[in-house]
Amino acid sequence: MRFSRRVTALLAVPVLGALTILSVTGTQSARAFPDDQLARGEKVWNDVCSTCHGPDSTNNDAPLLLNTGTLTNYPNALEAVLYAKDNMPDDNPGSLPEQNYWDAMAFILTKQGINGGLAPLSPDSAAAIPLAKP
Ligand code: HEC
Repeated sequence: MRFSRRVTALLAVPVLGALTILSVTGTQSARAFPDDQLARGEKVWNDVCSTCHGPDSTNNDAPLLLNTGTLTNYPNALEAVLYAKDNMPDDNPGSLPEQNYWDAMAFILTKQGINGGLAPLSPDSAAAIPLAKP
């Protein structure tokens, strides 16, 4: 009895430590890109992108970008934003302010469960966020 209690105590320390690390990591990844960027991105998504890329889209050519695996053509988030900036919206390419593309992509990536730490998605951070399947 005494022995097993000591073993339990010895085990509890690393287990609690691991749980603490897991919960801290979990909090960070849940936050991902900053909230203000995600709020702006959600608005761009709702106002513009979702018409063709959203779940109710009738545009058969437009991939449902909130689904995981739809951006794996791109090596990283920078390439995906550059593509969107030059080609989207499909009916009026490049017509939005550049920041809208960064914000919309931050929202899309977050919905796909991809995040790049706590920095805003920007020309400085995007190349370090891989999208292609290994
Ligand atoms: C009028 C319809 C339409 C709108 C609005 C639109 N898209 Fe697209 N999008 C398409 C179509 C169609 C394709 C697929 C053909 C292509 O790549 O041009 C596409 C492709 C893409 C791709 C490439 C996906 C891949 O697998 O290569 C990205 C990224 C993208 N769109 C982002 C956006 C973003 C971000 C917005 C909002 C700012 C947006 N699109 C708005 C129609 C649209």
